[in-house]
Amino acid sequence: MTLRGETRSSDRGVAAVAPDPMLPRPFRLQGLRRDTEDTVTLWLDPVDGEPLAFAAGQFTMLQAFGVGEVPISISGDPGAPHLLQHTIRDVGGVTATLVRAQVGDVLGVRGPYGVGWGVRDGAGGDVVVVAGGIGLAPLRPALLDLLAGADQYGRVVLVYGARSPADLLFPTELEAWADRSDLEVAVTVDSAPAGYRGRVGLVTEPLARAGLDPDRTLALVCGPEVMMRHVAEDLVRRGVPPARVRLSLERNMRCGVGLCGHCQLRELFLCVDGPVVGLDRVAPLITVREL
Ligand SMILES: Cc1cc2nc3c(=O)[nH]c(=O)nc-3n(C[C@H](O)[C@H](O)[C@H](O)COP(=O)(O)OP(=O)(O)OC[C@H]3O[C@@H](n4cnc5c(N)ncnc54)[C@H](O)[C@@H]3O)c2cc1C
Ligand code: FES
Repeated sequence: MTLRGETRSSDRGVAAVAPDPMLPRPFRLQGLRRDTEDTVTLWLDPVDGEPLAFAAGQFTMLQAFGVGEVPISISGDPGAPHLLQHTIRDVGGVTATLVRAQVGDVLGVRGPYGVGWGVRDGAGGDVVVVAGGIGLAPLRPALLDLLAGADQYGRVVLVYGARSPADLLFPTELEAWADRSDLEVAVTVDSAPAGYRGRVGLVTEPLARAGLDPDRTLALVCGPEVMMRHVAEDLVRRGVPPARVRLSLERNMRCGVGLCGHCQLRELFLCVDGPVVGLDRVAPLITVREL
């Protein structure tokens, strides 16, 4: 028997066990940061004092009381779960309310849910992290995990692309990462104003130049589906086995715990079988928006 607050932990997922999986826990907004014009990072403190242990790649169902609930990946450090960190882009009804939350407000949290990146499967080899836009948020915990255990990996490579320099998430952290000897960082933007000194182009360009050894590479990919498809095709063409190419797939979710079927992609319920899935399981499906 498990009691409220007990967790089962592994690299692929931390299963929070509560008597009623639909009952949110209250978290108080302790701090926030505006990242870009439409994206905000929130730091949330559990009102009951119980930290939310999680694995990199997991998400919560985050609720603005009286407005609604949406799945949001955890963007914090799995090694420091005392504050729950979420990075949220304002795209509609619920996210518009969440990004306007004020310090002291209370939000509801269910989870953590889903299957994470399984970062440690890359131990003994190289890991390439490919992020597009807000896709860096779900991948940040994986990067922090990789850096915390850097001696277990060969090369760790981050390739990050955004629409414009103003859309780059975590610019201060990106600079600090670029200075590290245990992480190779390539940042690129689709377009930039005149005078921009960084790289302009698609993520597939620096990825091609990274010179990865396909036999020892684990790839973690998150971004717009069109970008993930191109990156996945590219990696497979270079010889990375599809099972070693992991994607985070976002579908509309309602319950988050495998009950309602809203997130179904053929035989997969992405809230429990994902959001992180191997390309070997989804290659024929990722061109379809809703099945
Ligand atoms: C596992 C998972 C993790 C996620 N992590 C993050 C995260 O870390 N940060 C973040 O900002 N967002 C994340 N999302 C997306 C987020 O859940 C949606 O943006 C949100 O549900 C939109 O709700 P809304 O009420 O604000 O917008 P709505 O008014 O419901 O929708 C606005 C627009 O967004 C589209 N939309 C709605 N839900 C999704 C979805 N799940 N994926 C893609 N488009 C959608 C709608 O079709 C519509 O065009 C994640 C989604 C999933 C499934
Ligand atoms: S969101 Fe309900 S089954 Fe996945």
